[in-house]
Amino acid sequence: MKFIKVFAVLFIMTATGATAQSQDARKMNQFISGLMKKMTLDEKIGQLNLPSAGDITTGQASSAGIAQKIREGQVGGLFNIKSVEKIRDVQKIAVESSRLKIPLLFGMDVIHGYQTVFPIPLGLSSTWDMTLIERSARIAAIEASADGINWTFSPMVDVSRDPRWGRMSEGSGEDPYIGAQIAKAMVRGYQQSDLSKNNTIMACVKHFALYGAIEAGRDYNTTDMSRLRMYNEYFLPYKAAIDAGVGSVMTSFNEVHGIPASANKWLMTDVLRKQWGFDGFVVTDYTAINEMVDHGLGNLKEVSALSLKAGVDMDMVGEGFLTTLKQSLQEKKITQEQIDIACRRILEAKYKLGLFEDPFRYCDVQRSKTEILTESNRREARNIAAQSFVLLKNQNNVLPLKKSGTIALIGPLADAKENMPGTWSVAADFKQSISVQAGLQNVLGNKAKVLYAKGSNLTADSALEERATMFGKTLNRDKRPADVILKEALAVARKSDVIVAALGESAEMSGESSSRTNIEIPDVQKDLLKALLQTGKPVVLVLFTGRPLALKWEDENVPAILNVWFGGTEAGNAVADVLFGDVNPSGKLTATFPQNVGQVPLFYNHKNTGRPLAQGKWFEKFRSNYLDVSNDPLYPFGFGLSYTTFNYGDIKLDKSSFKPGEKITASISVSNTGSREGQEVVQLYIRDLVGSVTRPVKELKGFQKIHLKAGESRTVQFDITEEDLKFYNSDLNFVAEPGDFKLFIGTNSRDVKEADFRLNR
Ligand code: BGC
Repeated sequence: MKFIKVFAVLFIMTATGATAQSQDARKMNQFISGLMKKMTLDEKIGQLNLPSAGDITTGQASSAGIAQKIREGQVGGLFNIKSVEKIRDVQKIAVESSRLKIPLLFGMDVIHGYQTVFPIPLGLSSTWDMTLIERSARIAAIEASADGINWTFSPMVDVSRDPRWGRMSEGSGEDPYIGAQIAKAMVRGYQQSDLSKNNTIMACVKHFALYGAIEAGRDYNTTDMSRLRMYNEYFLPYKAAIDAGVGSVMTSFNEVHGIPASANKWLMTDVLRKQWGFDGFVVTDYTAINEMVDHGLGNLKEVSALSLKAGVDMDMVGEGFLTTLKQSLQEKKITQEQIDIACRRILEAKYKLGLFEDPFRYCDVQRSKTEILTESNRREARNIAAQSFVLLKNQNNVLPLKKSGTIALIGPLADAKENMPGTWSVAADFKQSISVQAGLQNVLGNKAKVLYAKGSNLTADSALEERATMFGKTLNRDKRPADVILKEALAVARKSDVIVAALGESAEMSGESSSRTNIEIPDVQKDLLKALLQTGKPVVLVLFTGRPLALKWEDENVPAILNVWFGGTEAGNAVADVLFGDVNPSGKLTATFPQNVGQVPLFYNHKNTGRPLAQGKWFEKFRSNYLDVSNDPLYPFGFGLSYTTFNYGDIKLDKSSFKPGEKITASISVSNTGSREGQEVVQLYIRDLVGSVTRPVKELKGFQKIHLKAGESRTVQFDITEEDLKFYNSDLNFVAEPGDFKLFIGTNSRDVKEADFRLNR
């Protein structure tokens, strides 16, 4: 009886919800159809055009011809304008001087925060904390929308297993499962459930698709992979963003199955719209249509037509659509309907953002004064940064440091506030970020003495340093000879009780067009580290990086390594919080650290092969291995230490087999066996032992971040259903195949407890 009542109420609720929704959709469709009836062909094509304004003023916009184009209805949106006043002025041109007064979209790469910058995405992912990640996107949306932005080119969800690729820094690492959770959290943070609110912005999942799998890690290079691998290993995070309701999708630069993504109908229409039901709009990446001329697909007119026909709606910067679609229509290479569909999708986005109701919805000058870079946003950024750090080594508990004595702070990244925000921090004001030196001073006050010396440049190669410090991210190259700079640092080191060496990559050593073939700490910095170790003082390596590095020598020789990525505005304070133990580190890697670059790509969820190496061995003739290095990573996926220790009991399963529709519950007791409280990410992996296609040796299927006081134990439970066992088979059907499975729970992907179970039919 009660059940029927609840069911009835639910039914009425869904029915009314659905009706309200379809009423909204009807209203929107009516409005847009009415508007489109008034539009000329040129005005429709104009909506598909997305120029980059640079940091323009209205005056510059007119001199660059953009203002005139806006008046003539040749612009659908603009990106790269910063400040609410400028955006308001440009929007004014659109809604006061263009014939149909259609408002503009205003986009920006708000990638890991706006002015309050959070850790680079690879760092954010290392928190394994979806609440914090969503919170970072929420704050980014509030700040960006307070400054006039209504659309961000984020989240970047490209799965990548190749640390040579600089853009690994912008994504969530190598694993599709955690990548998918993060994609959802980011979309929720930006969009919430109502895009028309003045503090939510439209997200854009990118880069669709497979950009992270480019050959040799060389940016913009070719991708080629089986459909099986796409569906099982690379597509998940994009699909998760679609399922979370992301408003737009950006194409990738690379080709997929021989056709560049921006002309790939299979990708943009069959997969995205027909299989996944995406109903937002697709924008190209920067000049990606024009680049298809170099890909060898035809001239600008031909590639623009291909792109529209593939299902692309908006052309970023290249103006291929603007300048050629009309002629292609006259030549019957494309249809009026194709233009109409793309135009409608752009107008729908504007409608959902509430821009037709109020084009100045995101132009509240007051908000821009009170909601950006606030004290509370900075506090959150500091906390999130500290949670993203990964403790890679801590021999004899060198860390945490005492807040007393004399500390030598040495290295090119020690006093480098411009580099703290990391790559893709276009809205950041570098003056606002906290260097490690400032952070140490803030946390120590006068409790301990900090002596600073640079010790070395970023690298001996000044041309490389220049390429790696672009966009104002200078490291103020020291022109003195390397041995003089080193000597000065050693003198400082000798006067101290402990040495903190802030070394690694500069911010722009990763990011777009920043691929590397050598993924070690650069030359002179390594010399510096060796010399510091020779002083006999304890050395803590505070490692800055935007990618997994090859750190074999460091791991063998340096007692403590804290990987701090690029932590954002509050990086320096957060580093100090962790170094002195005010925060206990809990970050875990989302990308494998190899022993050397020759092992790349190296990832935990690989296939077994027909000649796997026996466990514990590192070389056997005629097995899948190398002569000169073991198959093991230096630090496996999921790895990260704490100032306390955790002990795992054995896995208990509530049953040994289950049927579809049922679930199986795995529990494990986790204890904090150290002397301070801490957080642990308990990770669940599954292996499908027999399949109709080969299956990975392990796949992440769940995780829980728990907080335990010293001495406290907790039983952690995971429910496993048939859904968790599904994969795409060779017909690309998403199925679970009955049979035997192995389940693993542990502190990282290597150190796990095991149990077996069966799925019956
Ligand atoms: C990048 C995108 C970015 C776009 C706009 C491109 O070069 O690949 O990730 O969103 O520029 O700035």
